[in-house]
Amino acid sequence: MTEVLADPSKALSNAELLAGGSATPELDPETTAELAPLPSSQTISQRPRRLRRTATLRKMVRETNLQISDLIYPLFVMEGENQKVEIASMPGCYRYTLDLLLVEIHQASELGIGAIALFPLIPETQKDNLGTESYNPQGLIPRTVQAIKQAIPEILIITDVALDPYSSTGHDGIVEDGKILNDETVAVLVKQALAQATAGTDFVAPSDMMDGRIGAIRQALDAAGWTNVGILAYSAKYASGYYGPFRDALDSAPKFGDKKTYQMDPGNSREALKEIELDITEGADILMVKPALAYLDIIWRIKQRTNLPIAAYNVSGEYAMIKAAAAQGWIDEKQVILETLISMKRAGADLILTYFAKEVALILQ
Ligand code: PBG
Repeated sequence: MTEVLADPSKALSNAELLAGGSATPELDPETTAELAPLPSSQTISQRPRRLRRTATLRKMVRETNLQISDLIYPLFVMEGENQKVEIASMPGCYRYTLDLLLVEIHQASELGIGAIALFPLIPETQKDNLGTESYNPQGLIPRTVQAIKQAIPEILIITDVALDPYSSTGHDGIVEDGKILNDETVAVLVKQALAQATAGTDFVAPSDMMDGRIGAIRQALDAAGWTNVGILAYSAKYASGYYGPFRDALDSAPKFGDKKTYQMDPGNSREALKEIELDITEGADILMVKPALAYLDIIWRIKQRTNLPIAAYNVSGEYAMIKAAAAQGWIDEKQVILETLISMKRAGADLILTYFAKEVALILQ
């Protein structure tokens, strides 16, 4: 093809190129190499590089932009005082006791981050198969939500609804004979969501993938008068190897089996459309795809089907991969972070949950 373009007399017209170059004349490689004059401007009527010439121009024609207001910062909270423990597989991320969590949220808020997503580290002694601690009104998450609302009222709080941090089995639901019970679990999730709403959360985010939980939670919230508490639904959540570091952070890895009977099969995309349709009918306000990076096509497909905002979860394993390669000096960390997050927005995500939130805010400032 380069040889063809190198010889204007033999150059293909646009129409011929579009037609697959069927009119290509026979070339003599020896003579074409010798003749090869520069292509005249007549043969190149569109020069896309003109729009890439300067930084100003590139910015003017940029189709997708990443903004601090797109970001949601996930944070881990634990019992105790004045402690901050780094998560080995997530360098730069910590489990915070409430006092230090408030300091971290203050900093994030000052950087322009508007929303956080909270996850609790629950002591083993408080875990059971029914996830009873998940709806304790004086539990770690309700107390944390109340304290944040008092100290930093402007920050939007999203609380996770699922049993795994509270479950002695590490599963997102109640286990019986090695199976995860659906409807019995939904009843507990409803209580958990109500406890979080009572504590003052802005959004509940069911991440459990039980059937029917969005509808059950919406009805219960409305019946209790919490019509303004929103639902960010983990609608298309895949059974993924990318959650490993998160499970380290919360000591929440399943004690037996895997999560494949409730989280989605990585080979499926039409099923994601089924899941979002259900969540929309059941009352979800925002739909989430998780993980993000290996599922950009899912974000794109969902975007074609809904007018609701879409969130992408840039999960712990995606974070860990970038951190690990950057620590080795193998990639330019800042460039790869921005490129990764912009890919999610380009695919159609309106919001991104990311452990990089503070770093990105600093870069974008
Ligand atoms: C559990 C939950 C998980 C994550 C968020 N909520 C893990 C899992 O499903 O096992 C993962 C987040 C991450 O990896 O960053 N309900």
